[in-house]
Amino acid sequence: MSFKITDAVTWVGKRDWELRHFHGQEYSTHRGSTYNAYLVQDEKTALVETVWGPFAGEFIEQLKSVVDLSRIDYVIANHAESDHSGGLPELMRLIPEVPVYCTQNGVKSLKGHYHQDWNFQVVKTGQRLSLGARELIFIEAPMLHWPDTMFCYLTGEDILFSNDAFGHHLASEGMYNDLVDPCALMEECIKYYANILTPFSAQVKRKIEEFAGLGLPLKMICPSHGTIWRDNPMQIVKQYLTWAGNYQEHQAVIVYDTMWNGTRRMAEAIAEGMSQADPSLAVKLYNAARADKNDIITEVFRSKVLLVGSPTINRGYLSSIGGFLELVRGLGFKNKKAAAFGAYGWSGESVRLMTAQLNEAGFEVVNDGIRAMWNPDGDALEQCRAFGRGFGQGLTV
Ligand code: FEO
Repeated sequence: MSFKITDAVTWVGKRDWELRHFHGQEYSTHRGSTYNAYLVQDEKTALVETVWGPFAGEFIEQLKSVVDLSRIDYVIANHAESDHSGGLPELMRLIPEVPVYCTQNGVKSLKGHYHQDWNFQVVKTGQRLSLGARELIFIEAPMLHWPDTMFCYLTGEDILFSNDAFGHHLASEGMYNDLVDPCALMEECIKYYANILTPFSAQVKRKIEEFAGLGLPLKMICPSHGTIWRDNPMQIVKQYLTWAGNYQEHQAVIVYDTMWNGTRRMAEAIAEGMSQADPSLAVKLYNAARADKNDIITEVFRSKVLLVGSPTINRGYLSSIGGFLELVRGLGFKNKKAAAFGAYGWSGESVRLMTAQLNEAGFEVVNDGIRAMWNPDGDALEQCRAFGRGFGQGLTV
């Protein structure tokens, strides 16, 4: 159901309450999501974004209830990823001559997705599009988080349409940040940043500084997922600057998998040692095969240290740990310590191989890790506690 944000701006997006996975199966969306599209009506009418393809039909029916499609003068495609552009093919069949405003890379991406030669109009940072009393100002935002991404700003309403930036996967009936559970909102925001934006933190910082330098007043941030930031919109901008600065809390996370509980018992003993050394350190344990991978990544993002554990199997480590190590490699975390541990019966390569992977992923690997043969006995568990105490002490200095 559409709703007016201001006299000139109407939300025409889609709440997706059912969504539980995004980017295929790569990103869990425990609380659903929304695909936000916005209609700006002045002397001219501009549509900012569409919705994910499966909802294209619903989107167009809703749009028709707000505006005669023949009155749409401009389509703005801030980002070509199909959760925002998926409604374009059906829409453009109905209004084929209407210009589509996007970046140069946006043309490549949209053509790559849909193989259509729409009336593309390439825009650059600072370019303005007059709608009458108001203007749209375009701001390229490459790698936030695709090369094609851009923002646009609406003068007169002082609204930034920020696309994925400042977004969160959270379906809600109340579509403003002050109308949802603030804890749930921040949980989804940090998860989104940790899992999607971590590799682009340098660009996040530069883009925020560039936008601040434009001196444009800001009443609202309208992202393309989740709620609209109308209550103190700068709070999420400031939070992004904090997260972009090699963020960490006084926390350690232990991620492991286990076959017959030997490596689990090692993980728990290491955690005990960490807490003994520093009771103020938040120590969290996750079995990579049982916990949600994106929730684990969020905890890695928040941590000063990551310990990874797996028994040796087939001269390697368990497959859940393999998937997890690939995730942390790709995200490129910085300024975090790490080490590996694991139980073994004979060849025992897992710790050495995990240590190499952590090194390659950019962690500061502080030692060669710790191994326990067969099921750890009392002495082995005490060695694990001592290993943990070393980390606990090391984090307080
Ligand atoms: Fe990069 Fe919401 O898509």
